[in-house]
Amino acid sequence: MFKKLAIGAAFALALTPAASFAAGGEGHVEDFHFSFEGPFGTWDQNQLQRGLQVYTEVCAACHGLQYVPLRDLEALGYSEEEVIAYAAANFEVFDPELDDFRPAIPTDHFPANNGVGAPDLSLMAKARAGFHGPYGLGINQFFKGMGGAEYIASLMDGYTGEEKEEAGTILYENKAFPGGWISMAPPLSEDQVEFSDGHPATVEAMSEDIAAFLMWTAEPKMMERKYSGFVGVIFLSVLSVLLYLVNKRLWAGVKGKKTV
Ligand code: HEC
Repeated sequence: MFKKLAIGAAFALALTPAASFAAGGEGHVEDFHFSFEGPFGTWDQNQLQRGLQVYTEVCAACHGLQYVPLRDLEALGYSEEEVIAYAAANFEVFDPELDDFRPAIPTDHFPANNGVGAPDLSLMAKARAGFHGPYGLGINQFFKGMGGAEYIASLMDGYTGEEKEEAGTILYENKAFPGGWISMAPPLSEDQVEFSDGHPATVEAMSEDIAAFLMWTAEPKMMERKYSGFVGVIFLSVLSVLLYLVNKRLWAGVKGKKTV
């Protein structure tokens, strides 16, 4: 009895902050259409490569990706040599054996944060939900997905240009950030990076690219997951039909079919 009550109370406690959060300062998240959405969606490799470029040239100044091994970049269509060159050109790691810094190699991970209060982005696309409603029930997630990538894209593109200072920190108004004020200055501006595939570098386009890339870092095996899910559904459907027929056969003598 007491145990039940305690569990009930724990549930209520766990639910309260989420519900009040959703009802309170929830930001506005746009429903972007990413190529990886839906049961048959796949990565757009060019987009992931552009996202990596945005991360390297802009976000890496503050944010780490410490759970992502550099060698995984081969999945974005780069050759082994290209990954070796990319790692060496962009990152340095501390090697305890050398007792010194050396250029990164593919078996290293991306570096951790630079200690400026910016969170690690490796799993960010799965740590945030874009859609909470209606009334904090999360039913929208059923139709639109969790919306982690949408949240990141909306956050990049959601600055209004307003600033204020609070306790010595400058806060920037952002339509997507819960509460409306974030301490990250608008990271993207038009034509900040130059894409080799000639893709436009508007803030909106770059926002989508970096969001797609961060979805990949958070769930690199998404396509494999969808595929095995699909195979599982087919398998279970066939099994259901067979079980139905077996059941009919086994009970045929007892039910229905009069033999005399
Ligand atoms: C000048 C440093 C700096 C740069 C560059 C920067 N950020 Fe940030 N970022 C921050 C800080 C600081 C925070 C914490 C903000 C807060 O919680 O108020 C943050 C927070 C975030 C968050 C988490 C928001 C949340 O819901 O808690 C995301 C996502 C993010 N940044 C993405 C990016 C992306 C993508 C880029 C590159 C396009 C980028 N940032 C570039 C400093 C930076």
